[in-house]
Amino acid sequence: MGKLPGNERPLVGQRANVLKTQVQELLAERLQAVKSAALAERLARETIDVTAPPSGIPMGHRHPLITTTEQIVDLFCGLGYRVAEGPEVETDDYNFQRLRIPTDHPARDMQDTFWIELDHTLLRTHTSPIQIRYMDSHEPPIRICVPGRTYRYEATDATHEWMFHQVELLAVDEGISLADLKGTLQEFARALFGSERKVLIRNGYFAYVEPGVELAVDCFACPGDDPKCAVCRGAGWLEIMGAGMVHPELLEAAGYDSSRYTGFAAGMGPERIAMLKYGITDIRNFYANDLRFLRQF
Ligand code: DAH
Repeated sequence: MGKLPGNERPLVGQRANVLKTQVQELLAERLQAVKSAALAERLARETIDVTAPPSGIPMGHRHPLITTTEQIVDLFCGLGYRVAEGPEVETDDYNFQRLRIPTDHPARDMQDTFWIELDHTLLRTHTSPIQIRYMDSHEPPIRICVPGRTYRYEATDATHEWMFHQVELLAVDEGISLADLKGTLQEFARALFGSERKVLIRNGYFAYVEPGVELAVDCFACPGDDPKCAVCRGAGWLEIMGAGMVHPELLEAAGYDSSRYTGFAAGMGPERIAMLKYGITDIRNFYANDLRFLRQF
């Protein structure tokens, strides 16, 4: 264009534009033709077999807490216990009073909870009320195992949650002694943690048992003396269970003759047990719904 004499430029420019438009139109037509041919070819090739089995449906799996709870329940069922359950919304009477924890009892401080109706109905703080409920409606011999959710007004941290689980045990029969309790707890600890884990049974206070004990397992997260350890805080032991011989007053209140029948009871926390089994250092992981955590189990 630059070499053309000035008077020819507009004409040549005009023609070049016409040519450009024609080429563009032809290209677009051709592109459209190529595209529709490709689509026609793909549609001819593509068939949907509605009878084929589906592929790639994502499968979930059991939550580590459910697995652990089922392991505990299975173990006790193998020892002759049957599963019992009770309400999560409980009365003050079953949750505290009838377990020998009256309104002004200091044990209530550690089990403050969510009240539905003040001084009357609450979210149960433990599964122990099922001991009373079950004894009220059954006669010895009794062997029950009670899994369920429990609630407390807690400052949440690595080992405390406001909602957690417990599994309660109750055995009432003629001739049951502390030796039976000890043997049962040792069998439980061996089955769940293996014989290499150290188990400590020390005395502990619970109003509804006499004598009362605590079962603890040695810390898995530190050598046992690290005061900064998030799991044991330097105690070296992680308490997983309270237990003891059922207080005779509970037996009498249920209408049993406490000179004939004795029993033991225990309450354990599957969260802590799962933490020990899998080396989980923060209880909050169980309920955070983080798939990166859950996929590990
Ligand atoms: N209920 C107790 C708690 O939540 C645990 C417990 C202790 C249960 C002693 C029992 C028992 O059956 O005998 O801390």
